[in-house]
Amino acid sequence: MKRKFYITTPIYYVNARPHIGHAYTTIACDTVARRQRLLGADTFFLTGTDEHGQKIERAAQAAGTTPQQYADEISAEFRNLWKRMGISNDDFIRTTEERHKKRVQELFRRIRDNGYIYKGSYTGQYCVSDEMYVDGAQPRDPCPNCGRITETVHEENYFFKLSAFQDKLLEIYANPDFIRPETRRNEVISFVRSGLRDLSISRSTFSWGIPVPDDPKHVIYVWLDALANYITAIGYGSSHAGAQEAFKKYWPADVHMIGKEIVRFHCVYWPAFLMAAGLELPKAIVAHGWLLFEESKMSKSRGNIVRTETILDVLGADALRYFLLREVVFGQDGSFSFDALVQRYNSDLANGLGNLASRTLTMITRYFRGEVPYPSHAVARTPADDAIAEVGRKTIREFATFFDQFQFSRALETAWGLVAAVDKYIVENEPWSLGEKQDDESRARLATVLYTSA
Ligand code: ME8
Ligand code: MG
Repeated sequence: MKRKFYITTPIYYVNARPHIGHAYTTIACDTVARRQRLLGADTFFLTGTDEHGQKIERAAQAAGTTPQQYADEISAEFRNLWKRMGISNDDFIRTTEERHKKRVQELFRRIRDNGYIYKGSYTGQYCVSDEMYVDGAQPRDPCPNCGRITETVHEENYFFKLSAFQDKLLEIYANPDFIRPETRRNEVISFVRSGLRDLSISRSTFSWGIPVPDDPKHVIYVWLDALANYITAIGYGSSHAGAQEAFKKYWPADVHMIGKEIVRFHCVYWPAFLMAAGLELPKAIVAHGWLLFEESKMSKSRGNIVRTETILDVLGADALRYFLLREVVFGQDGSFSFDALVQRYNSDLANGLGNLASRTLTMITRYFRGEVPYPSHAVARTPADDAIAEVGRKTIREFATFFDQFQFSRALETAWGLVAAVDKYIVENEPWSLGEKQDDESRARLATVLYTSA
């Protein structure tokens, strides 16, 4: 049977139109998905939009429209942008779809039936922008995640017994591959060690969400709703045989890729919800850093956003993909600048790879009518020929190793090492001079040099 590979992006909030921060995550996942398909894995790559909650309800109000209408418009922008960029996602889930809503309710029921949900009331601080309860904060304290002023919430809620999972979570984190990179893993471990309080998983003071089963005054906490997308999209909680089969085949996910600001939701809450429901855990959660623009995180509220469309118009999706993966050390923050983009485009793509490809192909066209010649046995191979072959083999090995550790910039750096080596080889072996000579020996040598370059 074919090996399967299931990878996800976060589902994006529909309060903001897509920018290159969102494109960054999507591109990274797309690249991993494409590689897995090339390696022969039965690959499933999921993305989508996160459409419920107080933040979206308020954004719609401010725009003078309904939440559904508002979500429809922005969700379509994400979907269209990914199409335009050639993103190879296998599905696009929206949390307002019927299939999702029913299956989230099913998940809620399962967790409740297993005894991990009880009714209570919450009084405390809440950050609407992060849709996050801020334990221990006082009225008007800022959110520790985003710095915005928290709001006081006082309402009846359903609670999830998160505290019951502290030890089990710590056991899971003992596997060093579960949370990557190491810095994020350490943060999560110390957060969990400091003690977990039960988590409110419903809201009852607004209505834009999925109703709690048997108690529709409440809507399910948007993070439980959103995280569940990773299983609802592939068929969890469905009664259709096909969907059940897909879920059995693809779950658990091989990689959830996320930005570093949502690590807690993915590494603490999500595994706890899954354990409470008796489901398997994802194999890895991989967090990347932020794209900064003019020194701070690119985000709608800071107003320092770069739109992807402009870059696609001028340079195209391949150039943007190359740039983001080559320029930013995956896992760390990286600055976006148009100067760096143009610089990389010119030096690495046009002059480096482009020039090498064009030179090689032009000579093969001119001297061998466009067919790659066989290396000739009429003249002996030189150590330089063998050295290029060896660099080629080594590059393939190292590229794979770096890539599989999500070190995209190092993988690409390695690949461009080969570009430089072949360039140097061509300069030293002067195929253009060999091409001017008519004797058999020069002709044979030319075949070997162009074969090796190709
Ligand atoms: O957090 N640099 O959605 P979101 C790098 N709906 N990545 C960035 C970025 C930046 N400047 N800005 C955004 C949510 N991202 C929730 C997720 S998942 C069950 C629910 C990327 O619209 C990054 O991957 O705020 C981040 O995690 C994601 O967009 C969050 O997008
Ligand atoms: Mg965000």
